[in-house]
Amino acid sequence: MQNVRKAKIIGTGSYVPSRVLTNQDLEKMVETSDEWIVSRTGMKERRLAAEGEFTSDMGFAAAEQALKSANITADSLDCILVATLTPDYVFPSTACLIQQRLGAKCAAAVDIQAACSGYLYTMAMAKAFIEAGIYKNILIIASEKLSSIVDYKDRNTCVLFGDGASACIVSSEGKGLVIQNVVLGSDGEQAELLILPGGGSRHPATAESVANKLHFLRMEGKEVFKHAVRRMEAASKESIEKAGLKEEDISWLIPHQANMRIIEALAKRFQVPMEKVYVTIHKYGNTSASSLGIALDELLKEQKVKTSEHILLTAFGAGLTWGAAILTND
Ligand code: ACO
Repeated sequence: MQNVRKAKIIGTGSYVPSRVLTNQDLEKMVETSDEWIVSRTGMKERRLAAEGEFTSDMGFAAAEQALKSANITADSLDCILVATLTPDYVFPSTACLIQQRLGAKCAAAVDIQAACSGYLYTMAMAKAFIEAGIYKNILIIASEKLSSIVDYKDRNTCVLFGDGASACIVSSEGKGLVIQNVVLGSDGEQAELLILPGGGSRHPATAESVANKLHFLRMEGKEVFKHAVRRMEAASKESIEKAGLKEEDISWLIPHQANMRIIEALAKRFQVPMEKVYVTIHKYGNTSASSLGIALDELLKEQKVKTSEHILLTAFGAGLTWGAAILTND
């Protein structure tokens, strides 16, 4: 018998901290200019977590909103998946910290690390759990405190990243966005292009590792850029085909918010007019795993997505990892 269970996003939420770091602020910190940042990235501002505000706090705030928007309570959650590369601790998982705060007593909880592609990786897992009949209600959270791993003396990276969180409820019941498919990929050959070398088993924290700044993110921006466009384009194409759609059927494009030039290249490739491309990069910068979910939540809140419209999500990040998904508003 054909499997008829469908995984749907029935509620979303997002949270960004109130502290704003502008390009003008960055001009005072490193040798850069508003003109360089805007023309090379499209970024004008990003948000930074307050002192004492952590990844689990931001994820919790986004999760509370998603539960409210889905009109379900935390005790009906079967599973919590948290996408993050900046967990509160290496262990226990940030998912467990949020599970406790929500009072989600029946939920399994685990962190997933796929960098900026984390939202799509968790979405693929949630879809599989729902369609296999294992769980009914899954909370996905993406939360990042990238300011905790950024070197604010390195102009190559410090202008790019911001903090924030997003969440959604994936369920077998209710009305929402049907997850048609999620295409995922990875290439560990390129692991060194984007890396946080310190703090793991290879370079545990020592006075030397800290002096060598191993606990800060490093990125070969130009190389990453080349892979980003190529991989997101191919994954998006595959996802569109798997959904039985044509490129012109895509009503909305939500790409990972890493660079405006990458976003524009993708929009051009799929012939999506810029007014149908959801962009948050100017106000939040790159929030890694959180970026797709923040954009999706904001788009849905604007109530512009009509019934039967298809949304294409695509992301790319460290690993390297990438992915794409088609959501259809039922
Ligand atoms: N202000 C002024 N000058 C700068 C700055 C800055 N903030 N940063 C770099 N420059 C300089 C460089 O030093 C270089 O100078 P040089 O030519 O004298 O050496 C020059 O600008 C050009 O630098 P490039 O790195 O070649 O600049 P590029 O146009 O490639 O832009 C950027 C850099 C924005 C990082 C771009 O490459 C990019 O967006 N890459 C992709 C990022 C991405 O997609 N990341 C994936 C997800 S992130 C994740 O997974 C956590």
